Amino acid sequence: MDPTAATLAFPEGRPGPYQPLQDEPPFDPGHHLALEMPAQIRHLEELGYGETDTQQCASTFAVSDAFRILSAEGVAAMRHVCNQIYHNRNASEGTGANRLGSYARGAGYRSQFVRDFCDSPELTQHLSAIAGVPLGRHSVPAVACGINYAPEDINRSVDTWHVDSVAFDVVMMVTDPTVLKGGEFQFFHGTKQEGQALLGITGEEGKDETLPEDRVVTIAFPEAGFGFMQQGSMIFHRACRLLERAERITVIPSFEVLPAHLPDSTNTLNMADWEDPGICPELARYEIWRTTARLKHLLNEIDLEDDAAALAVRINGAIQRLVDFSHKLAGKSK
Ligand SMILES: [Fe+2]
Repeated sequence: MDPTAATLAFPEGRPGPYQPLQDEPPFDPGHHLALEMPAQIRHLEELGYGETDTQQCASTFAVSDAFRILSAEGVAAMRHVCNQIYHNRNASEGTGANRLGSYARGAGYRSQFVRDFCDSPELTQHLSAIAGVPLGRHSVPAVACGINYAPEDINRSVDTWHVDSVAFDVVMMVTDPTVLKGGEFQFFHGTKQEGQALLGITGEEGKDETLPEDRVVTIAFPEAGFGFMQQGSMIFHRACRLLERAERITVIPSFEVLPAHLPDSTNTLNMADWEDPGICPELARYEIWRTTARLKHLLNEIDLEDDAAALAVRINGAIQRLVDFSHKLAGKSK
C-alpha cells in the first residue's frame, strides 16, 4: 500500500468554537490542483547542519523555492473559503510567545474544502517526492490545515523569527503576492541554533528583530496559488510585517513522516501549551497512534535470542514519547 495514504483519520466532530462553512465548493483535485515541482531545493548541509543534526531528521531536505500548487480555479475557491473562515478565526492572540498575528488553525474543522485539499493523496505524494521521504497529512487537525492572515495592526510582524513545531509544512499564498509592500517570507541561511543565538532566544519562541541581511533569503512568490515547502523544525524563518495594509492570506498545511513507526519530530510537548480548542486530545491521538505503530513494529521484530537488557531499551524507545506526553498532560491539570 502507498504509505502516504496511511495517516490517521481526522477525529469525529469539531471543537465547540469552530463553525462549519455553509457556502463552499467541493474540492476537486483535477480542477483545483496544478502541481509543479520546485526549480530549487536546498538541503540541510547547505545551511551548515552537520551529520549529528541530519541523522536526527527524517530527510536532509531543507527548503524549496515556491512552486505552483493551486490552479486559478483552486485559488478562487480557496480564497472564498479563507475569507469566510476569517470571521471564525482563532480567538487567541497567539501561542506560547504570542507569535502569530491573526490565524485559523484547525481550518479543516470549518471547511470541508480545506480538509479535502490537505488530505488529498495527490498533494501528499507530490510533497513526499520533494522532501525525499514518505509524508502524510498531519494527524493533528490544528496544524494539518492552518491559515495565516495579516494582523489587524500592521506594525506587528505577520510571524516573527521562529522554527516550527512540526517537521514538514507548506506555506502557500492565497492572495496576490505581487501587490504586497512588505509581508515577505524569509528564512535564515544558517542553522537554527546559529539564528537563535544571534537573536538571543531558545526553543521555538519568536522574536521580532532583524538578522544580518546577507544571511537572510526571501522566498519569491510569483502569484497566488504558489507555495514553498520547508522542514520547518530546522529552518529559522519569519513573515515580515506589511508596510501598507493589504490582504495577505497564506494556507499552511503540515505533514508528518510515514509509515507511523518512523521518527517524526512533531513537538507535542510545546504544542500542548497552545490554546487551541481540542489541542490536547488531538496531540494525545497523535502520540497514541504513533506509539502503537512503534510497538507493533517492535512486536514483529522480537526474536527469541534477543538480549533482555537490549529489549528493555527498545521497549522504552517505543513508549518514551507517550510517557513524556502523559506527564505533560498531568502537569497541566494541576
Ligand atoms: Fe513557521
